Amino acid sequence: MRLTIDTDARTVTEEAADGPRAHPLDSAAAFRLISEQWLAVGWTQKYIYGFTWLGRPIIQLPEDMVRIQEVIYRVKPDVIVETGVAHGGSLVYYSSLCKATDRGRVIGVDIEIRKHNRAAIEAHPLASYITLIEGSSTDETTVAKVRNLIRPGERVLVLLDSCHTKAHVRAELEAYAPLVGPGSYLVATDGIMSQVAGRPGSKPGWEWDNPSEAAREFAETNPAFALEEPGFLFNEGKIEHHVTHWQSAYLRRVA
Ligand SMILES: C[S@@+](CC[C@H](N)C(=O)[O-])C[C@H]1O[C@@H](n2cnc3c(N)ncnc32)[C@H](O)[C@@H]1O
Repeated sequence: MRLTIDTDARTVTEEAADGPRAHPLDSAAAFRLISEQWLAVGWTQKYIYGFTWLGRPIIQLPEDMVRIQEVIYRVKPDVIVETGVAHGGSLVYYSSLCKATDRGRVIGVDIEIRKHNRAAIEAHPLASYITLIEGSSTDETTVAKVRNLIRPGERVLVLLDSCHTKAHVRAELEAYAPLVGPGSYLVATDGIMSQVAGRPGSKPGWEWDNPSEAAREFAETNPAFALEEPGFLFNEGKIEHHVTHWQSAYLRRVA
């Protein structure tokens, strides 16, 4: 794709199949095209590896954090389960929302919780909100440990941020879907992989081997879940799409 940004002429021009298409630089269409490139370059440059939340590194795009906060505030889960802990920043982030809203607790699952990360998470002021489980997220014993921590009738929201292959995410979706009740969400993060396929740092096959494909396939075969981008709760601006690493991520339990 060829994209030309001309700040003198104030246009953004994309090469479409039927020839060049120019948009005013100050337009929603230009914002979308520039955002797509900003996301992809940000991904290759590891932009999201530069943030902390209440002292712990969190590997998320800030817009995705605000959007999931909107979903959590609306759904009001009793339990937030996240696969993929890393440094624990996202667990601390969800815990801080639980504390602020006086509702909920967090379960984090990772195949390897490094000693220093575990120590820092366990020493954190919000540690009482967090339960850590070590094990592969798709192992039946791991899933059973998560299940045993959830009481009957509790509302559960699940985020999948561990191994991002299509097969692994598909298996996670099958394993964790029964925990999610009507109105809540299963979120398969990091569909951005499809948009950065072929760029430095990507792996062959990411066009199809990514979490969005797993979520799409899951939605097709599980009518109790709909693949739905959460809309804007507030929008007095002119931009009507999300700038996100979580493309086709949100599976809402509809039945
Ligand atoms: C992208 S990081 C998680 C980032 C974290 N959620 C955050 O926002 O800061 C991915 C994590 O998934 C873990 N992981 C990889 N394969 C896994 C598996 N099969 N089961 C559970 N965790 C896995 C890795 O050890 C790594 O810590």
